[in-house]
Amino acid sequence: MKVLVTGGLGFIGSHTVVELQNKGYDVVIIDNLSNSSAEVINGIVKITGKMPIFVNLDLRNKQHVDGFFNQHKDIEGVIHFAASKAVGESVKDPLLYYENNITTLVYILQQLTELKRKNFIFSSSCTVYGQADKLPITEDAPIKLAESPYGNTKQIGEEVIKDTCCAYKDLNAIALRYFNPIGAHPSTEIGELPIGVPQNLVPYITQTAIGLREQLSVFGDDYPTSDGTCVRDYIHVVDVAKAHVIALERLMENKTVSNFEVFNLGTGKGSTVLEVINSFEKVSGQKLNYKIVARREGDVTAAYANTTHANDVLGWKTELSLDDAMASAWNWEKKIRG
Ligand code: WQD
Repeated sequence: MKVLVTGGLGFIGSHTVVELQNKGYDVVIIDNLSNSSAEVINGIVKITGKMPIFVNLDLRNKQHVDGFFNQHKDIEGVIHFAASKAVGESVKDPLLYYENNITTLVYILQQLTELKRKNFIFSSSCTVYGQADKLPITEDAPIKLAESPYGNTKQIGEEVIKDTCCAYKDLNAIALRYFNPIGAHPSTEIGELPIGVPQNLVPYITQTAIGLREQLSVFGDDYPTSDGTCVRDYIHVVDVAKAHVIALERLMENKTVSNFEVFNLGTGKGSTVLEVINSFEKVSGQKLNYKIVARREGDVTAAYANTTHANDVLGWKTELSLDDAMASAWNWEKKIRG
């Protein structure tokens, strides 16, 4: 069965392509290589031995999107990762984010309504919750005013899908709200490839440890948490990828309760920044050079998932630990800088 993965050469996308191929699906990747490299295909093939179809296409071009779907009417499901995702950049260039994250979603959904099988997985984010009032965060937690245009595009994206599912009863969609995906495939054939200075914690840690960065700045240690640093739910990217296959099969096998469902993807455990650093030092056997600096604008104090809905209804739970993720991230960093 043929599955389309947009953004399939990206961090979570490439790991999901591997899990889809491992389950026997034929994968078509659309990627415009704006935040990834065609090299990633070689990594995927080294792991699975299967070559996905790769189409270098910019989803902002409606004619190209329509042309693609006319060529691939036998698609059984779509997993939509392609989007811009840098919070800071979205504040500086909001229109780039609304065009790239919303317009492209509309073009894909317009085509999906023409397909025989209309199964759609949306890459959403815990960002939609902002600073939740109650922890751990459940899927019915109130959606807070977005802290950035990026976060707003995820909220709007879910609304667009919900409204479309109301209008087209045969469209089946699931939004997966990721917490903090980290790590790399245990094979070290694929992993995170941040372009330029990493915004996220874990790639910054591994790049500091390998000598690419001078020192990690820890953004604040005066938060009301166990050690004063922010709390997040760091989830191994392979666990996130496996959840996408389970969610897609839920749609394909018509197991859904409604034609638009939402699931948190997290471990259910919060870790502070210092705990992540400790985990890295433990698995790598080396001290990390870091210093405490001022808080980063827009950071929430704590966010971690209530995983009951995903565990009991989706039938998925994480299998890998923070240490597994940090070890895989470090092995990947050593592999690509080696
Ligand atoms: C984690 C913690 C920082 C860098 C991101 C995305 C969000 C969503 C989840 C996709 C925070 C601290 C970080 C550094 C630090 N992903 N930190 N020094 O902000 O939780 O959210 O992942 O949808 O969109 O933005 O992740 O890795 O940036 O930060 O101290 O150099 O690490 O303050 O507490 P975040 P992050």
